[in-house]
Amino acid sequence: MKIVVLGAMGQLGRDLVPLLPGEVIPVTRADVDLSAPGAITAFIARTKPDIVVNCAAYNLVDKAEADPTAAFAVNAWAVRELAVACRDAYLVHVSTDYVYGLEDGRQTPYREDDAPGPVSIYGLSKLNGEYLVRAIAPKHLVIRTCGLYGVWGTGGKGGNFVETMLRVASQGKPMRVVDDQRCTPTSTRDLAVMITGLIERDATGLYHAVNAGDCTWFEFATEIFRIANLRVDLTPIPSSGYPTPAKRPPYSVLNTDKLAALGLPAPRHWKDALANYLHDRQERSA
Ligand SMILES: NC(=O)c1ccc[n+]([C@@H]2O[C@H](COP(=O)([O-])OP(=O)(O)OC[C@H]3O[C@@H](n4cnc5c(N)ncnc54)[C@H](OP(=O)(O)O)[C@@H]3O)[C@@H](O)[C@H]2O)c1
Repeated sequence: MKIVVLGAMGQLGRDLVPLLPGEVIPVTRADVDLSAPGAITAFIARTKPDIVVNCAAYNLVDKAEADPTAAFAVNAWAVRELAVACRDAYLVHVSTDYVYGLEDGRQTPYREDDAPGPVSIYGLSKLNGEYLVRAIAPKHLVIRTCGLYGVWGTGGKGGNFVETMLRVASQGKPMRVVDDQRCTPTSTRDLAVMITGLIERDATGLYHAVNAGDCTWFEFATEIFRIANLRVDLTPIPSSGYPTPAKRPPYSVLNTDKLAALGLPAPRHWKDALANYLHDRQERSA
C-alpha cells in the first residue's frame, strides 16, 4: 500500500507520517506547490498512490480576508484538482471547525449533518474544499478538526496557541485572552491516531475528530499556565477587545459520536492531551 501525505512538514503531517502503515511518501511544498495548477495532477499520475492524505492548507486566517485568492488557490482549487486526480485513490482530506460560526446562540456541539456557515474567508475556502472533495472524489473521507497544537508548531503561522502563550508568559507581560469563543483545542498527536484509525476502518464520508470537552481560549490559557506552574497576569476579554481582520466562530464545538460509532477509542479530554503535550515538551528540553 502506498500513501501520499501532503503537508507532511506541517504540525499534523509530522505526527501522522510515522503512524501510517505501508509505504508512506511525505510531500512538502518544495516537492509539490499546490497553488501551481497542474502540479498535483502530475505528481499523483507519477506516484500512483492507493491513499492520499491532505494535511496541507492555507492557514493564515487573518491574511486570507485581504487575499482570498491565495486562500482559495490552496484550500479550494488545488483540492478540486486533487479530487479529480484521485479517481483511483482513497482521498482523506482535513478540514476545520471554521466551517461553522454563523449560527447565533448555538450551545450544543455540531454534528456532521448540521448545516455549516463560515464567518471568514478561510472558513469559506475550506468549506469549498470539502464540497469539492465530496462532489468529485469517488472514495473520500473529510475530517473536521479544531484548534491544533503539536510539537512542530504551525510552520506558516509561526507557532501554535500553546507555544505563543508560553512565549509571551516568559516575557513577563500581562495577557488578555478572549473568553467568548468556545471550541475544543486538539493535540495533533491525538488527531493523527484518530485519522489512522479512520483509514484502517476504511471510513468514508464526513467525520468530526477532536479531543473531548470544550473551553474558551481564556480557559485554555488558564489551564496551560496551571499545568506549567506559571503565575501570569491573565485577563479574560470579549472578542471585541481583540479585533482581528477575520471573524472567529463564537461556538464551534464538534460532536464526535460518529467516530465512536465506528468503534474508535473515545478521544481523551483536552486537559489530558494538553498535560501530555506539556510534559513531553519539558522532557524534550531537559
Ligand atoms: N492549525 C489549526 O489550528 C487547525 C484547526 C482546524 C483545522 N486545521 C486543518 O488541519 C490541517 C493541518 O493543519 P496544521 O495545523 O498541521 O497546519 P500547518 O502546520 O500550517 O501545516 C500546513 C502545511 O501545508 C503546507 N502548505 C501550505 N501551502 C502549501 C502549498 N501551496 N503547497 C504545498 N504545501 C502547502 C505548509 O507548508 P509550508 O510549511 O511550506 O508553509 C504546511 O507544511 C489543515 O487542513 C488545516 O486547515 C488546522
